[in-house]
Amino acid sequence: MQDLTTSEVYSLGIVSAVCLAILFNAFQSNGEPLYASLAIGGLAFSFSYALIQWTGDVFVRRGYKGRDLSKKTRPEIPEAMGLVSALVYLLAIVSFLPFAFKRDIVAVTSGGGNKDLRLDIEDIENGRFLHRFPLEKVGHLHAALHNLASYGFAYGTLASITILGILDDSFDMRWRHKFFIPAFAALPMLALYFVDFGVTHVVVPLPLRPYFGELVDLGILYYLYMAAISIFCPNSINILAGINGLEVGQSLVIACLIILNDSLYLLPTVQQPHPAADSHLFSIYLLLPFVGVSLALFRHNWYPSKVFVGDTYCYFAGMLFAVVGILGHFSKTLLLLFIPQIFNFVYSAPQLFGLVPCPRHRLPRFNARTGLMEPSVATFSEEKPLIPIVGQVLKLLHAFKLLRIVQDEQGRVVESTNFTIINLWLVWRGRLREDRLATELLVMQTVVGLVGLWIRHKLALLMFTVDNRF
Ligand code: UD1
Ligand code: MG
Repeated sequence: MQDLTTSEVYSLGIVSAVCLAILFNAFQSNGEPLYASLAIGGLAFSFSYALIQWTGDVFVRRGYKGRDLSKKTRPEIPEAMGLVSALVYLLAIVSFLPFAFKRDIVAVTSGGGNKDLRLDIEDIENGRFLHRFPLEKVGHLHAALHNLASYGFAYGTLASITILGILDDSFDMRWRHKFFIPAFAALPMLALYFVDFGVTHVVVPLPLRPYFGELVDLGILYYLYMAAISIFCPNSINILAGINGLEVGQSLVIACLIILNDSLYLLPTVQQPHPAADSHLFSIYLLLPFVGVSLALFRHNWYPSKVFVGDTYCYFAGMLFAVVGILGHFSKTLLLLFIPQIFNFVYSAPQLFGLVPCPRHRLPRFNARTGLMEPSVATFSEEKPLIPIVGQVLKLLHAFKLLRIVQDEQGRVVESTNFTIINLWLVWRGRLREDRLATELLVMQTVVGLVGLWIRHKLALLMFTVDNRF
């Protein structure tokens, strides 16, 4: 077991003490969910930071270990440590529920006879509280149950994806087999959507309204769309990976950008109570603890990594974004925050779908002599030939600096850089040290995400007559 250093013990101790005090105060008043969520995020950070440190060796002993391919000595370090973050996160969400619903419980039971609580035969037959509610409070109760269902099904979906992630990390599955894993985990969430919202209409952008009208019912297609998002988000994070800190880093950037977008709906300048405020609060409450557990993991996973996060973390993070986007009704905005991942996915498609041979690892190549990262390559030979027409397309991409290829004397493409934006970035920027590469990619992602959000709220006015913030 790896112990924490003295300064780590003090810092984590102080963070935890402050967070506990906030939680205690929140519970004394009416739950204060926002403060409670922030404090639970802080506690989740401390807890996962310490647990990752303490359990790394245990993971290695159980065979959960991987070689850091981009270091001179290729050290073996714990793999799949994102499992710790995911489990602490699930615990955090359950701990948050009393704070989320205290206000509702008080509102529903106050004056409704909660002072003389005692069980009698009627209670046992009808449940403890339900029959006592005056009618006007039933509406309130309904809203609270609706919210509780969202938390419950989000929890179910995230717990399922964590289990499936562990399977993947344990059996090192083939890419084409594991691609659809997240669809199974998303079933609880889709079931809730079916039972609870069932809204499959979309608002048509202005230019298309003469043809389609104001609203279009997509029906079953909408469920396929949501399933596609649930498959895409986890996988797209998992394949934008291979350098220290990138998996968690990109998830943190997306989480913070979603929180930023959520806050835009809660500002005092927006007319309150805004109809979408509840959905965005739901999203914030789910994301703050996620930021906590992810920051802890990031500290251990940043260059030079002491642990790897595993596919468990990538799936879990991606699925959380899908959950808040879908249940919070902002899945299209969510996709704007995934632009680098979408680009990487589309750019990767030729390798993912077998048009171009795909090696097991596409992470950039570490040059031990310079200590810098270079684009990694796929080579094409008699055994792994390239279809001639594909060769022509690669030459075209090369001409547009979207790839780097090597040709033999006959002009046949014998080698090309692997199709990931990490390699493409190196083609553009030249050799870079691993941490520099990760930082640049994260900055690029942040800038693209901010521009995406800006366009989202500006362009909405042109395409939909109103931005839904107003
Ligand atoms: C995905 C990518 C693969 C990439 C890998 C890196 C696709 C289709 N798959 O596969 O190309 O190589 O992620 O995570 O795009 N590793 C490092 N340094 C890091 C992170 C990972 O060396 O900073 C290595 C370690 O050996 C680690 C392994 O990658 O054990 C983890 O790979 P894994 O996450 O299992 O790969 P996939 O998700 O299947
Ligand atoms: Mg992976």
